[in-house]
Amino acid sequence: MDASAFNPPRGMRDFYPEDMRSRNRLFTVWRDVAEQHGFAPYDACVVESLELLKRKSGEEIVDQIYTFTDKSGRDLALRPEMTPSLARMVVARQGALTLPIKWYAIAQCFRYERMSKGRKREHYQWNLDILGSADISAEVELLATALDALNRLGLGPDQVRVHYSSRALLSELLNHLGIDQPHHAATFLALDKLGKVDAAEIRTLLQAESLTPDAIDRVFELIALTTLDEVQARLGNTSPAIQSLRRFEELLGVYGLEKQVRFDLSIVRGLSYYTGIVFECFDVQRQFRALFGGGRYDNLLTDLGGKPASGVGLGFGDVVVAELLATLPARSDHQSPPALALGYMTENERIPAMRIADAFRRQQVGADLGLQPEKAKAFFARAGAGHFTHAVYLGPDDIQTGQIRIKRLKDRAEMVRPVSNPASEPLE
Ligand code: HAM
Repeated sequence: MDASAFNPPRGMRDFYPEDMRSRNRLFTVWRDVAEQHGFAPYDACVVESLELLKRKSGEEIVDQIYTFTDKSGRDLALRPEMTPSLARMVVARQGALTLPIKWYAIAQCFRYERMSKGRKREHYQWNLDILGSADISAEVELLATALDALNRLGLGPDQVRVHYSSRALLSELLNHLGIDQPHHAATFLALDKLGKVDAAEIRTLLQAESLTPDAIDRVFELIALTTLDEVQARLGNTSPAIQSLRRFEELLGVYGLEKQVRFDLSIVRGLSYYTGIVFECFDVQRQFRALFGGGRYDNLLTDLGGKPASGVGLGFGDVVVAELLATLPARSDHQSPPALALGYMTENERIPAMRIADAFRRQQVGADLGLQPEKAKAFFARAGAGHFTHAVYLGPDDIQTGQIRIKRLKDRAEMVRPVSNPASEPLE
């Protein structure tokens, strides 16, 4: 059989134990940080109704949905993102939930994408969302949480930066140019393609929205503005979008995050539901795609038939962050908890070894028992290759003397313990 027959389908991943360890480390950081910032966990079904996921046309994501029909003829899909499911769950309980809520999830998402660096057809996404708060503090808390997670992974201000803008601000600018509200949503989706497709293609999209060549020139000119002050000069001091961006910057400063963010009008986002501040986080060298992205969405719940509630959220994928971390020197500060490998020379030591394993496990120390007698050399080779901190190899002599020797693998130091009570003291 061709070796490729054992590969997963293109764009999908298997996780062997070593991959799974890295994945678990990332998920642990995501979970710990979310909980420490006051987010509550939730989950949703991976299969959704296609109807829920299909929204306005023009969004790339809609064409990327994996769809199927079930045996009863229902049109279903694998979720490409978590946000519609979250909105559905909140609307279902909107009467009972006390808003605002802060929720997080780690969700596997599926998108039939063109495969490229940082893009697979399946990825895990850490979602953080705050629903029911119109206050700019929600954006700030969200970014503080995501940046905290990056920091714990070893990615600080020298490695990553958040670029932000505001669709409300862009709307004000488009109004200023005489481009009416009904054209804004499609204009945003076209502008999101800047840098990804050539300018001529974006022009065509904007022309299809009946923007005149002159208006298109002015849109391009606007998007090239680089500071909020320049934008303010066009819109004046009373712009509500500018006021909220200024407040956003001020509050980020309280957390000392002002140096890790940068105003960037070219950030628009490719999903149609965003209405306010939008942001994406990149490596400072801009070698990779976005590590996370998100923003404020005001109308998603009402679009689904719910009561109005403003939301703000982000999605942080597992693929790009792993690619970025792989370019940096490995960190040595990762401390594994104690874990004991247990081996034995002959069948006679099997049961004493089982008792020792049991004693450690009762103390919540991991203990892995050899499944059959083995030679000392083979045992220590196996123990050294695994994720163990300590090893015990039992021979007839140990049983006779009633003492075991616990070897600390990193320096071969030995601790002697009674066979009858081997886990009386913690492993050092
Ligand atoms: P998104 O920008 O489409 O936003 O995805 C968020 C993140 O998921 C990206 O920055 C990237 O890290 C990762 N990601 C997306 N697609 C792929 C892929 N094909 N392969 C690998 N990684 C990928 C959303 O999905 C929004 N629902 C986020 C959100 C939550 N907005 C509000 N709440």
